[in-house]
Amino acid sequence: MSMVSLGVPASDVSRVSRETDESPSVAFVLGSGLSGLADEVEGASFIPYDELEGFPAVGAVAGHAGQLVVGRIAGVPAVLFKGRAHQYQGATAHDAAYPARLAAALGVQTLIVTNAAGGVGDGLHTGDVLLLSDHINLMGTNPLSGWPGPSGGTPFIPMRDAYDPALRSVAHAAADEIGLSLKEGVYAGLLGPNYETPAEVRMLRTLGADVVGMSTVPEVIAARALGLRVLGFSLVTNVAAGEDLSHEEVLEAGKNAEVQLRALSLAILRRL
Ligand code: HPA
Repeated sequence: MSMVSLGVPASDVSRVSRETDESPSVAFVLGSGLSGLADEVEGASFIPYDELEGFPAVGAVAGHAGQLVVGRIAGVPAVLFKGRAHQYQGATAHDAAYPARLAAALGVQTLIVTNAAGGVGDGLHTGDVLLLSDHINLMGTNPLSGWPGPSGGTPFIPMRDAYDPALRSVAHAAADEIGLSLKEGVYAGLLGPNYETPAEVRMLRTLGADVVGMSTVPEVIAARALGLRVLGFSLVTNVAAGEDLSHEEVLEAGKNAEVQLRALSLAILRRL
């Protein structure tokens, strides 16, 4: 039995199960402009988010394609969430964590999350791929607030090694194999949707953050509460508060580096 209530409608589990005979072992949550990995899925079937009863209904944001892809990737049975519901769109933290909750309900063991983020750490440049070693929750909310549900258990979960050390070693080995230089760093999650002020960027640097974004934290906390192993990547689409920034520029930077992240993901899957 899971430690916390999943809150996943049985209809969503059967909707996904109808598309495949295999139980998925890996789930991906693909961030802004990073959904190209879904093109690598063999025998893919697609479920629009609005056909999933439990998926929070929030408005679409450009670059966030809302669908679940089910199939095999590099031979591994997987589900891929193309796009997320963000808290800045009005989703609660519990809602924003739906991909992690549905993945757990499907029996997935490993959650791989990707996001577009602003670089705040020294030496980070647009187009860098950063392996997440940890996060700082500055969203002011928590997906475990209000849990535990009917199944009991405790929401007081440890967050040391939330980003799985063994999986991070696999990621480094995979990066070496494809000749990608992969740094590790800390993700600060903010509510958004405005980008940070220069004073906020200085604060984030002081706090020890390397990148800043508006997602990922809720699903990672929920995934850990549900016993999933987590791996996370940020694509640095801009240097935070470095210059005036548009959502289009963020998406454009994502396009170039997402090819690298796609190759890295495949190399990781071959090693799982
Ligand atoms: N800040 C927050 N979120 C982001 C950024 C940023 O600079 N770039 C992409 N997502």
